[in-house]
Amino acid sequence: MQCGAWDSMVESVAIGKTKNAAQATPTQKPEQFGAITSAEKSRFKTGMTEVDSVLGGGIVPGSLTLLAGDPGIGKSTLVLQIAAEVAKDKKVLYVSGEESAAQVKLRGGRLKDLHTEFDFLGSTDIDEVFAQANTGQYELIVVDSIQTMVSQNLSSAAGTTSQITNNTNSLVRIAKSTHTAFVIIGHVTKEGNVAGPRLMEHLVDTVLYLEGERYGLLKLLRSVKNRFGATNEVGMLQMTEVGLESVGNPSEALLQERQDLPGSVIYVGMEGSRPILVEVQALVSPSVFGYPKRVADGFDMNRLGLLCAVMQKRGGVNLSSSDVYVNIVGGIRLSEPAIDLAIILAIASSASGKVIPPNTVVFGEVGLSGEIRSVSMPQVRLKEAKKLGFERAIVPASVKDSKATSIRTIKDVIKLLKPSGE
Ligand code: TYD
Ligand code: MG
Repeated sequence: MQCGAWDSMVESVAIGKTKNAAQATPTQKPEQFGAITSAEKSRFKTGMTEVDSVLGGGIVPGSLTLLAGDPGIGKSTLVLQIAAEVAKDKKVLYVSGEESAAQVKLRGGRLKDLHTEFDFLGSTDIDEVFAQANTGQYELIVVDSIQTMVSQNLSSAAGTTSQITNNTNSLVRIAKSTHTAFVIIGHVTKEGNVAGPRLMEHLVDTVLYLEGERYGLLKLLRSVKNRFGATNEVGMLQMTEVGLESVGNPSEALLQERQDLPGSVIYVGMEGSRPILVEVQALVSPSVFGYPKRVADGFDMNRLGLLCAVMQKRGGVNLSSSDVYVNIVGGIRLSEPAIDLAIILAIASSASGKVIPPNTVVFGEVGLSGEIRSVSMPQVRLKEAKKLGFERAIVPASVKDSKATSIRTIKDVIKLLKPSGE
């Protein structure tokens, strides 16, 4: 880290003199491995199917789960629902440094049939949270949020690097020693600031990101780290008038407002082990100052620049005096290279005013020579598309499917565009 920035000074604690290694004596008794009971058996359900599946079956006692996400995305709502569900047969403490008891109660009032037999503590004092955990009575403690918590043992302010790392480390230790499971909220800021969840990721057992459009309905719960389950699993939730609900079929929700217009393409992505159909939109318009803009929402900007260059050089589509805007509908971020082909088709479609054949889905990676490369799990993608009524697909040549059009280069794929009916 470089200096010249606020909050870049990190407090560290000096370690006391330790004994010479040769004189060390054991203080801990190793366990007989076969006699160790697996945490697997004692996992408990959060009561929300999508959340449980992302966690790998439920919350593991003694584990620390970080729930991160943008402000306003629904983190507090989600933890309140989890706390209430778990409280049906476990002892739960909900600590909020963000909101007062009355505010949390107000939110609780909106949630359908909220179970209220759990304890609430309005506090920003992390030492008090440690003390509560040490009583050993709670099986789950929720902390909203780590950025508001301060330990009196450190002189720095709430939300600073030293507070967050030290407090998270202490929580990990207490979770293990008391077998209390913790779910900790961490805010992400647009700048991806220093004292945020990134800092905690390697300290905790599980990291979940809640994402989506702030005012959009669909929220994705993504596991980016999980010591007790698969990573990259995704749960689909929907914010309703009565809290978050699991969504059985997200693709349907995402495609609801779609129209077959130039610039719109349906892509089949894989989120973890699940296929998801998403609309990719592009808008190509003349640049105003002769400096072409490339803007992407939900997609990597550098990748967009690269794909535009490939289209120019290998596909014969002139974009040198055009602005290109790309949007992934639903506020989802997609980073799988399999989306390349959909992006290219959406751009070519908008630039030419032509459309892709109706009822068609698209996936494939695009290489620098304009070749279309294979992607993972093509059959799973095709199956999901068919299930949702899409009869045709534009796919890499390696995919064997009688109804799919397989293509080798972006030149071939651009030829598939048809004049729009409008
Ligand atoms: P919140 O959980 O407070 O977000 P975060 O803790 O991540 O900052 O709430 C997010 C939004 O959800 C808020 O604008 C209000 C809305 N909301 C609903 O639409 N329905 C509900 O039942 C609840 C409780 C909140
Ligand atoms: Mg909140």
